[in-house]
Amino acid sequence: MVSLRFLLCFLFVSNVYATIVSHDGRAITIDGHRRVLLSGSIHYPRSTPEMWPDLIKKSKEGGLDAIETYVFWNAHEPTRRQYDFSGKLDLIRFLKTIQDEGLYGVLRIGPYACAEWNYGGFPVWLHNMPGMVFRTTNKAFMDEMQNFTTMIIDMVKKENLFASQGGPIILAQIENEYGNVMGPYGESGKAYIKWCANMAQSLDVGVPWIMCQQNDAPQPMLNTCNGFYCDNFVPNNPNTPKMWTENWTGWFKQWGGKNPHRTTEDVAFSVARFFQRGGTFNNYYMYHGGTNFDRTAGGPYITTSYDYDAPLDEYGNLNQPKYGHLKQLHDVLHSMERTLTYGNISTIDFGNSASATIYKTEEGSSCFFGNGNEKSDATISFQGESYVVPAWSVTILPDCKNEAYNTANITTQTSMMVKKPNEAENTPSTLKWSWRPENMDNFLLKGKGESTQTQLFDQKVVTNDQSDYLWYMTTVKFKKRDPFLGKNMSLRINSTAHVLHAFVNGKHIGSQHAENDKFNYVFEKDVKFKSGRNVIALLSITVGLANYGAFFESKPAGITGPIFITGRNGDETIVKDLSAHKWSYKTGLIGFESQLFRTESMSKWSVESVPFNRTMIWYKTTFKSPLGNYPVVVDLMGLGKGTAWVNGNNIGRYWPAFISSENGCDANCNYRGAYHAEKCLTNCGEPTQRWYHVPRSFLNAEGDNTLVLFEEMGGNPSLVSFQTTRVGSVCANVYEKNIIELSCDGKPISAIKFASFGNPNGNCGSFVKGTCESSNNTVDILTQECVGKEKCFIDVSTEKFGAPDCSGAARRLAVEAIC
Ligand code: GAL
Repeated sequence: MVSLRFLLCFLFVSNVYATIVSHDGRAITIDGHRRVLLSGSIHYPRSTPEMWPDLIKKSKEGGLDAIETYVFWNAHEPTRRQYDFSGKLDLIRFLKTIQDEGLYGVLRIGPYACAEWNYGGFPVWLHNMPGMVFRTTNKAFMDEMQNFTTMIIDMVKKENLFASQGGPIILAQIENEYGNVMGPYGESGKAYIKWCANMAQSLDVGVPWIMCQQNDAPQPMLNTCNGFYCDNFVPNNPNTPKMWTENWTGWFKQWGGKNPHRTTEDVAFSVARFFQRGGTFNNYYMYHGGTNFDRTAGGPYITTSYDYDAPLDEYGNLNQPKYGHLKQLHDVLHSMERTLTYGNISTIDFGNSASATIYKTEEGSSCFFGNGNEKSDATISFQGESYVVPAWSVTILPDCKNEAYNTANITTQTSMMVKKPNEAENTPSTLKWSWRPENMDNFLLKGKGESTQTQLFDQKVVTNDQSDYLWYMTTVKFKKRDPFLGKNMSLRINSTAHVLHAFVNGKHIGSQHAENDKFNYVFEKDVKFKSGRNVIALLSITVGLANYGAFFESKPAGITGPIFITGRNGDETIVKDLSAHKWSYKTGLIGFESQLFRTESMSKWSVESVPFNRTMIWYKTTFKSPLGNYPVVVDLMGLGKGTAWVNGNNIGRYWPAFISSENGCDANCNYRGAYHAEKCLTNCGEPTQRWYHVPRSFLNAEGDNTLVLFEEMGGNPSLVSFQTTRVGSVCANVYEKNIIELSCDGKPISAIKFASFGNPNGNCGSFVKGTCESSNNTVDILTQECVGKEKCFIDVSTEKFGAPDCSGAARRLAVEAIC
């Protein structure tokens, strides 16, 4: 009897720990409570395990309830049935870090990710299996997808990480945005989605499954929205809460492209509008974008930085004011959780895109006043009061009376990040380099590879994506009087190589890369062939495999041909097609194979006359780790294109020589009006990416560190330097009756550079006094309140700063403080 009671008690207790996640037309319900859920994407391999606790802690402090991540199949199963969950790939450790911080998790298994990740997260060996077609009712594909998905679910279950087991994960995702591309898959696409749903359901995770951008998501899959705005989204089933799995906080960057920015005002507007119109779950994609280390960048041409203009920057610093302004929004939304999820909704339309939404329960009401007009402010009369709602903004009134938040009124400081030189002891101002050439003799002079075929193959098929590099080599013989040996001979290559370097008889004849997203181009160069044997050696380089679109797995990469030699015979053009010649293939480069990037590499390096602007060359140097704990970057200005390693850790591809075009930037970016990825760009006419993140965990705090560069195109390493990134100055520009917080992220504020209370003009770094200004010494007041302190709170009031006459207009305090 006793033991039965004990057993019952045990069952009851264990049940208490299990979390029940369900949903209804209104919200996600966790243990019986409807929730307003704010979530953010952080992809574990885009930072290091050492960074995870800080990133997740900052996410929680930023007001998030949950962290969302994809699972990256190709990283975990680089070779079929050989798995890697080490280091940055320790998914379980990442999920437990989320749990330790008391946040929820959203696990997007896919296993198709997209995510600007190499090949969208699919392994290339999968593509090379016989009869393979991705993302459709192809048996081989479905078997592999099921195998990987099941394995991940089993791993996560074994650690009791699903909410149904008492763990943090409240939602799981299968597939990703298939609805956006499914047309070309026809009926098979529809059948595939049903299969995905059944397969996922059979895995019995005990939490709801989501499918994003899938209007025909079969029950019980929840279909969710992705985009810059999702307030108009209506799920396909009225019992599905309105959920937004990807609110894009910025955008990604491509080699040759500019820096994307999505304004803080617009992100906040999109979120507030979404909740005004019944939203219940909003996930920021990305909350921390991070870095595409190694060869993980997708593409083609996704940069190594995946900063995304996210609330946490690439290095994990707060991107202010985005981080703080959204935090305030989260706090306000959370304070209204009960009315938002249980209240009756009514709406008043004021015309001209202005509206009020009232959520009412028996205990009270909460209101949103929205103004979607791009140009004019709206004046809303509500319950005897009048409220001005600026253009393209939402005002939130948790009690329907007092304005607690307006999406366009930013009171959070702007932080200006700076890079400072390496302050390590005994670091010389310039680094000392050694070098060695890449050994290419076998290829350039002998055309000798590992295998031969009488056909030009797609690069993926040959390399299995084990390397970016593939040599295509052939020999061509000409008799003495061959008409091809005349003048005007050329080599013409139809190429889909992301970068191509061409050599004839050991001589570099030219290089080409794709411009303006045209990855299908013709390379043509005049060449002088000789009588007898000629060696043509073509080095094709991938720079991230395609990650998006219907059937993207078969987008060509490499030298798919045809390849011709053209010549003249009298007035006649003669053409020799080399496409079906005997081609010899070699995957990878010798220096990579002999691991020249490893610190313990025994190879000989020369310190004599270090060459500049030489192609296919290795450089090496040592340096001391910068003191302190600020994030470290290496400035690769002056270099061409290649790969960089710090202490043997691959920090990604670099390509500072790729300069973005001069046009299309917008210094005075206007947040009003719908955002798109071409709006508010910066960095025109500059290297696409100059600074590369070196996580602290890659460095030895004491002693020497090694930097190795493999330079393909030629550059000058003498400008390379290590730097730290940190807040340089902070600014605010805020109306009276607000409180502002100035903070140098844990370091004392050292001076007040500018302060004016009245109607100052300009932006952070370029403030100027306006036509009216308080006679009180604003700089002195702020110096007293802030200098020497890690943070200070300033009440922007006339009591403190005086009451300058600004002809009735509201007064503002602009301040710039130096960190
Ligand atoms: C979405 C996709 C994400 C990411 C995003 C753009 O379509 O689901 O994985 O690629 O676009 O950053």
